[in-house]
This record gives sequence, structure tokens and C-alpha cells, in this order.
Amino acid sequence: MSRRRIIAGNWKMNKTPGEAVALCNELKDLVKNDAVDVVYCVPAIDIVPVVEAVKGTNVHVGAENFYIEDKGAFTGEISAPMLKEAGVEYVIIGHSERRDIFGENDILINQKVKKAFASGLTPIMCCGESLALRKAGTYKEWIARQIKWDLTDVTADQVKTLVIAYEPIWAIGTGETATADQAEEVCKMIREIIADLYDQATADAVRIQYGGSMNAGNAAELLSKPNIDGGLIGGASLKPDFGKIVNA
Ligand code: PGA
Repeated sequence: MSRRRIIAGNWKMNKTPGEAVALCNELKDLVKNDAVDVVYCVPAIDIVPVVEAVKGTNVHVGAENFYIEDKGAFTGEISAPMLKEAGVEYVIIGHSERRDIFGENDILINQKVKKAFASGLTPIMCCGESLALRKAGTYKEWIARQIKWDLTDVTADQVKTLVIAYEPIWAIGTGETATADQAEEVCKMIREIIADLYDQATADAVRIQYGGSMNAGNAAELLSKPNIDGGLIGGASLKPDFGKIVNA
């Protein structure tokens, strides 16, 4: 089963609209690769100029967050129809920073996954353990529980198009990357969980990314693993290095 590689940048809260366009122009030739899905997940205010800036290139645009209602009295939020109309195709859901800083729980994350699918957006659904859970040795149970909760009432056909990002929290922005074997161990386990919850065909189709201090130096080894189909990249997505990851 060959799955198409997907390399997504998570810009987080970086780049003003002007800086965002400049970065798109800087990366344009560096991220060319017809064999890879390249995605920029950008701050809400950058979406419109970034969609314009990447027109005619191989880059797809993603959002970093959204809310589950279509419209109404939800001050500060942005809806799936707004994202769709602007040209967004992917959306990150359940990033550890959303969970830890903004208090998002698995009930909301599951609602977001279902809403994204219902709206024609592809979720990049994040999971991952803290350093304490890694040290305690209970990280596998934790991640299995996250996956089960977050996929409640999501169909096999939907999961076939889903992207799951395994991001150990202790490796995010810390410069400490999981080893390729550590990352592969969990990505393989996630695929087995999907096979248990659905079936083998669904498990073979779902794309699983590693995220957490992935960079130009370690990407090739991580991406060589059979169950790692791509990366969700924070810091290194804001630099020319991102092109090296796309072409690793
Ligand atoms: P990082 O972030 O690459 O800067 O570690 C990854 C992420 O949080 O998605």
C-alpha cells in the first residue's frame, strides 16, 4: 500500500499578512515536488493572502483551528464555511497547544473532526503524550484513548482520507526529536488501532505524520519509516529548510 506523502507546515502564531506572502514567495521553488502533498497551515488572518500567493503552485492551504458552528454569536471564532470559501482544504485539529493552552478536550476535538468532514475539510488530527506519560511508560494507552475518543462516530470512508499527526509534546519546539524508532513505534501502533476500530483497508489508507522538531537534518530518516507518511512541522516550516523536508 503506497500512501502519498504529506508535509504540512504549522506556522502557529507567526507571520503578519505581509510576511506570510513574502515567505510563500521565498519557499515557492524550494517546495516543488509533484510526489508530495505540501500544505501551509497558517494563522486565520493570513489565509486569504496566502491562498492568493500560492495560486498556480503545488501548495495547499490549511487552517490551524476553527469552531464547530457555521455562524453566530461566537466572538473571536472562525467557521468551516468561511475557511472553505477562502480556499482552505485542511485544518489542524487537537494540537497540543490548543489542548493545553486553550483547554480543548477530546469531546470538542471529536466534534471538530466530524464538522470538518461534513464541511469538506480534511482534518490533520493531532495526538501525543507529555513527557510525564512518556516517562511513566503509559504513553501508548494515552494515545490509544485519544484516537478512540477523537474518532467517535467518524466513518471508515472518512478515516481513509484523514491525516493523523503523532506529536509527542516533549519534542515540540524543544529541539528534542523523537528518534525515528520511537516515532515509528507509535505511528505503527496508531495504524493498528485504526485497523481494530475499522478494518485493514482503512488502516492502510490513513496517513500518519510525525511532528516535533522535525528539520532538514532528521526528516529523511523519520520519513524512511514504513508507518510515517509525512510530517507536521512548526519551527522549520518558517525557513527555507522546509523545502529540504519536502524533498527529503
Ligand atoms: P515544531 O512544532 O516542529 O516546532 O516542534 C511542531 C508542531 O507543534 O506542530
